[in-house]
Amino acid sequence: MSSPDLSDAEHQQVAETLRQAGVPAEDLQSVLKILDGHGLSMGPKIGEFEQLFCDYIGAKHAIGVNSGTAGLHLCVRAAGIGPGDLVITTPFSFVASTNVLLFENAIPVFVDVNPTTGNLDPDLAAEAARDLAAGGAKARKWLPRKGAENPSAFKALLPVDVFGQPAALDLMRQVADEHGLKVIEDSCEALGSEYRGRKAGSLGDYGVFAFYPNKQITTGEGGVIVTDDDQAAATMRALRNQGRAPGDTWLQHTLLGYNYRLDEMSAALGVAQMARIEELLRKREQVSRWYDDRLDELPQVERYVIEPDTTRMSWFVYVVKFRQGVDRDALAQKLEGRGIPVRPYFAPIHLQPYMVKRFGYHPGDFPVTEDLGRRGLALPFSSVMTEAMVDQVCQALADSLTH
Ligand SMILES: Cc1ncc(COP(=O)(O)O)c(C=O)c1O
Repeated sequence: MSSPDLSDAEHQQVAETLRQAGVPAEDLQSVLKILDGHGLSMGPKIGEFEQLFCDYIGAKHAIGVNSGTAGLHLCVRAAGIGPGDLVITTPFSFVASTNVLLFENAIPVFVDVNPTTGNLDPDLAAEAARDLAAGGAKARKWLPRKGAENPSAFKALLPVDVFGQPAALDLMRQVADEHGLKVIEDSCEALGSEYRGRKAGSLGDYGVFAFYPNKQITTGEGGVIVTDDDQAAATMRALRNQGRAPGDTWLQHTLLGYNYRLDEMSAALGVAQMARIEELLRKREQVSRWYDDRLDELPQVERYVIEPDTTRMSWFVYVVKFRQGVDRDALAQKLEGRGIPVRPYFAPIHLQPYMVKRFGYHPGDFPVTEDLGRRGLALPFSSVMTEAMVDQVCQALADSLTH
């Protein structure tokens, strides 16, 4: 890559920033080629990127979009989820998995999570589904204190593959089939993971991946939806492109749509990154093993459990939980003070100010989620971390825990 406007030092800085995001200079060549003659949007690269996803996931359709959030939103629309509809989901996630329901004025029905994995508790989800399907007082006990006075239909399950580990998808499918529900699998953190030998994202009616720079592959911003449903795929393609259905001209819009298109530069980067997916996943797995080995020696640190059903784990972040008695926030501050960037993970969705205001949630409503949220810390993690860097983090952690 070269540009006459950048000094050598600036070039080096750009290269280093990209290297840290797991994007080598070679990948940028394919982006630069786009600038060198192709159209910048709706050209051939998005189709190529989508085909790679169909092949990798084993899905009939892949639809490229400009973020994971956009992808999830299109799934909500395609599933026909609208005002007052009930959708079982998790409060232990990144906010987008809930927000996409609120965009359509649907009601997220939170169910608490499994303390060892952070994923939606399948038994509780099954119980909630039975009660919601029964309606009346039984259903009400799962609904928020306010903001859900006039529920419409019970429509879907929206499980999240937390930190890269697939949710208990066979059980979710069973519950969904029993009650005639759609399953939207939020696999934004789980590209490459496998559940009972099948790829994450392929287990629901729709699966969604995201490519922000902290993800397993990046396109800068971007996402992909995968589905085997022909009609839903056609609807989502129209919705991402301002509602233009096949046959519509540029200024004809059969549906109310959005601009959720993935541009050609991002798609080109995605194609280059997908060519190296195995290498990227293996590097992340190696970093997780280095952490595992070192953290085994710290009794105050607990790790999330990788279930036997997770036949392949694709590592998105490396999150640890501290045992009772450790002040997580003080520890995080000490680590930050030593130049180690860490982040509490996740902040429970139901306690975000806008959720408290809208649905009247209180602390204590989802105790497992809140406990994990209080004790969890994401350690520095990427495909370009070296063993020496992991050593440095673990040494700083050990020192901070003892002093
Ligand atoms: C679980 C989950 N869902 C959805 C998203 C949203 O993806 P994006 O940031 O690409 O919109 C993320 C992103 O971090 C995520 O972790």
